Amino acid sequence: MKKLVYIDACIRDEESRTKRIALPIIDELKKKYDVTTFVINELKLDIVQKALINKRLSGDIPSYIMNWAETISDADRVVISAPFWDMSIPSALKTFIELSSILNVTFISDDKTCYGNCKSEKLLYITTRGMDISTRDKLDQGTSYLEALSYLWGLGEVIVVSCQNMDYVSCEEVENKIHTAIQEGLEICKNF
Ligand SMILES: Cc1cc2nc3c(=O)[nH]c(=O)nc-3n(C[C@H](O)[C@H](O)[C@H](O)COP(=O)(O)O)c2cc1C
Repeated sequence: MKKLVYIDACIRDEESRTKRIALPIIDELKKKYDVTTFVINELKLDIVQKALINKRLSGDIPSYIMNWAETISDADRVVISAPFWDMSIPSALKTFIELSSILNVTFISDDKTCYGNCKSEKLLYITTRGMDISTRDKLDQGTSYLEALSYLWGLGEVIVVSCQNMDYVSCEEVENKIHTAIQEGLEICKNF
């Protein structure tokens, strides 16, 4: 069975609308993929500061972090669910990405530049935004960041399932948006 990594950065957990969209999509993908899930809320995430960089440069990388990087690098597909926070992704997810960004694992480098070193051919990004901001609008720094990350690591085509204007519509409209996003996600699963 092919492998999929699911990074669950739905920080509000059970209360998260993003998570409500992601769960049925992941359940569907479990029929095709062996899924490894990283729940951001459950991980030990030290902010990447000078001491950690120096340790890393001397080859001292904790085995649990190496495991995150290797698991991502070896996955055929990646799914990330994360709410839209401060016009981008939650910082805990950014920290997870910084920790997992390991030379010769998620990316390689020569004397000119960096190249992706991950197997993944597609990255599905599931998000909900409070404001009325569309995917790939210049204010959507979540998608643009993950597209840049996909370039660095080699995660493949970035596909987005999103809801917007979630904080300024009625409860009924929120439910309709969630329902539509789930249907859209399940449709994407057919060719993912
Ligand atoms: C800490 C925080 C920061 C947020 N920042 C933004 C923002 O910059 N732009 C925006 O459109 N919505 C913002 N929102 C609203 C969320 O994107 C919106 O409520 C989303 O649906 C939350 O997803 P969740 O239910 O999965 O947690 C923010 C919400 C929180 C809690």
